[in-house]
Amino acid sequence: MGKLILVFRSIGNLLMMLFTVSVFRFTKGNYGLKYAQQTFFIFGGKPGTLASKILRKKRNFKLNHVEHNLSSEIDYKTIDSKLKQQGFAVEKKFLSQESVKSIKDFSLKNLGAYRETDKGEGALANILFDPSDPKAIRYDYSPSTVLACTDVQKVLSDKRVLAIAQNYLGGEPILDFVAMWWHTKSLKPDSNAAQLFHFDMDRLRWIKFFFYVTDVGIDNGPHVYVPSSHHDNALPFSLRKRGYVRHSDKDVARHFPESNWKFFTGEAGTMIAEDTRGLHKGAHVLRGNRLLFQLQFTSALYGKSEEPDNMALNSSVLTKELRHAIGEFPHIYQKVKILN
Ligand SMILES: [Fe+2]
Repeated sequence: MGKLILVFRSIGNLLMMLFTVSVFRFTKGNYGLKYAQQTFFIFGGKPGTLASKILRKKRNFKLNHVEHNLSSEIDYKTIDSKLKQQGFAVEKKFLSQESVKSIKDFSLKNLGAYRETDKGEGALANILFDPSDPKAIRYDYSPSTVLACTDVQKVLSDKRVLAIAQNYLGGEPILDFVAMWWHTKSLKPDSNAAQLFHFDMDRLRWIKFFFYVTDVGIDNGPHVYVPSSHHDNALPFSLRKRGYVRHSDKDVARHFPESNWKFFTGEAGTMIAEDTRGLHKGAHVLRGNRLLFQLQFTSALYGKSEEPDNMALNSSVLTKELRHAIGEFPHIYQKVKILN
């Protein structure tokens, strides 16, 4: 009898997968996003993982390929196995101190916007960030502004980043978005500023790269991750059934002991590669201001609708490196729009 139940359950799972994947194949835009999210809430991730495997594009370049001059200082195999097992991998000193300085200088000379806090205060657009006088908890730059930064473009065209993304996604990655923001000192975490635990869910499968541009100690709002919470079915149904919401530390600790949470402290230049389908947050800042920038690569563009010109870049600020990379890997940079 037990065996029969097992067989029925397996057949049921298979049918559910086939149905889900066929719907994934034909739904588009925000309708697809809703479908991907609902499927995740109900089934816990397997259908999304399977659909990602079907929709991704085959590998374009091989690791350590001489032609691509991949740095031997990076242990790609270890990074990949850490990502797969724990959901994250860290590389200290990934950015040079010159790059860090240049990105920070860029951030202080370009306009961004303060994000409205949970209390509904602080929204301010087209304003410079003054580290000595921040106006709200989170200050963001538009993707096009971030793209215009020469040293961000260097990272975007860095084969080490592309190789890590490709290995993890098992296919040629697509640059999905770029972001950069400041977190400033606050008395308590702000949900709008992504300072409460949550999982991301814009695509089927993706990988994010966080780069610290300021030194981040335990008081400076370290990024926090719940190891191994990115696996299929790792999140309990009691959390998933709440939908796409923020979760309190207490609720997360009920399922994942706090002693296992990973707090990423590190000097400016540290890179954290992470599958943000796992639970994560930016701890609120107790001292100073924290600047980081972030890249997301996805296996397929199924899910969130594209905002036109979201990643537009004026050709006058396009670096030689990125121009070359776009020519070499058009699939990866298909969302970057070069304006003349
Ligand atoms: Fe997030």
